[in-house]
Amino acid sequence: MTDKPPNRVKVKAPATTANLGPGFDVFGLALNIFHDTIETQLTNKNITIKISGEHANTIPTDPQQNTAGIVAKHFTKKTGTDKGIEIKIKKGIKPGCGLGSSGATAAGTAIALNHLLKTNYTKMELISIAAQGEKASAGTAHADNVAAAILGNFTIIRSYKPLDVINLPTPKNLEIAVAIPELPTPPKKTKMARSILPNTVKRSQMVYNIGHASTLIAGITLSNINLIGKGMSDCVIEPVRAQLIPGYEKVRKNALKTGAAGVAISGAGPTMIAAVDASKVDTLTVAKAMAEAFEREGVKAKAYRTQPCGGAKILGEG
Ligand code: HSE
Repeated sequence: MTDKPPNRVKVKAPATTANLGPGFDVFGLALNIFHDTIETQLTNKNITIKISGEHANTIPTDPQQNTAGIVAKHFTKKTGTDKGIEIKIKKGIKPGCGLGSSGATAAGTAIALNHLLKTNYTKMELISIAAQGEKASAGTAHADNVAAAILGNFTIIRSYKPLDVINLPTPKNLEIAVAIPELPTPPKKTKMARSILPNTVKRSQMVYNIGHASTLIAGITLSNINLIGKGMSDCVIEPVRAQLIPGYEKVRKNALKTGAAGVAISGAGPTMIAAVDASKVDTLTVAKAMAEAFEREGVKAKAYRTQPCGGAKILGEG
């Protein structure tokens, strides 16, 4: 009996939150709040993309403009296949809200195509390929979301050149309160939210951010959610991006007032997240207080309670 390669592979990839305060382009955390489903299939020619789900209409299906298309192009080039690839994406993660929507699609597509085309890439290589896909929305490749979407739980990009990622388990009682404001998403939001950032930092800012990032990691490794929260503070990126988020200060205050250990902008925003010790505090109460702060600014917002989760999974093949 021959081991016939599959014609079709389906993968589920989770939402992620990146940065967590001081870890810009470095920290990522996979969350079981939403996921994308990506189905890849061999066809006769060309790369084609079909998108379904509530958030489908805002995403380009042109393979050159779409994160999955960029990833697929890598695979067709690498394998030299004369076949085409159809990618069907069911968007469960709202694009542009700061929860790794494009990262999940890129990660899921890379895993699916690795299996479909038997390319045998390592997870590190898949992260690197998926990070290139992020260029479609962010303008530059960044690996924090895709690393967490592929490996699951907490990830640290130790280095980009060469790519090196550390994967850590998360404390049992760690939950994340999430408040998603309904703000209009500018086109290429992540690219825009990166273009306003400073390129240089002062020594005092470096000291502050290293101190906080180290504290956050101490909290993850010691299972100390209080330390994780204390570490979630950044003096370089967040103060700039906070100006794009109406109610940012009030959301922070409400999260901390209701018992969150720490608060941060999720990725490039505008969603905000808070770390919660679920053995002591009700996560949904925190999330609702954050959403209320948005609403008091006249911005509708949704509140969620979520947990860290594993990475993208193959759901089936055929
Ligand atoms: N680290 C990236 C940024 C994440 O903050 O721009 C974007 O999802």
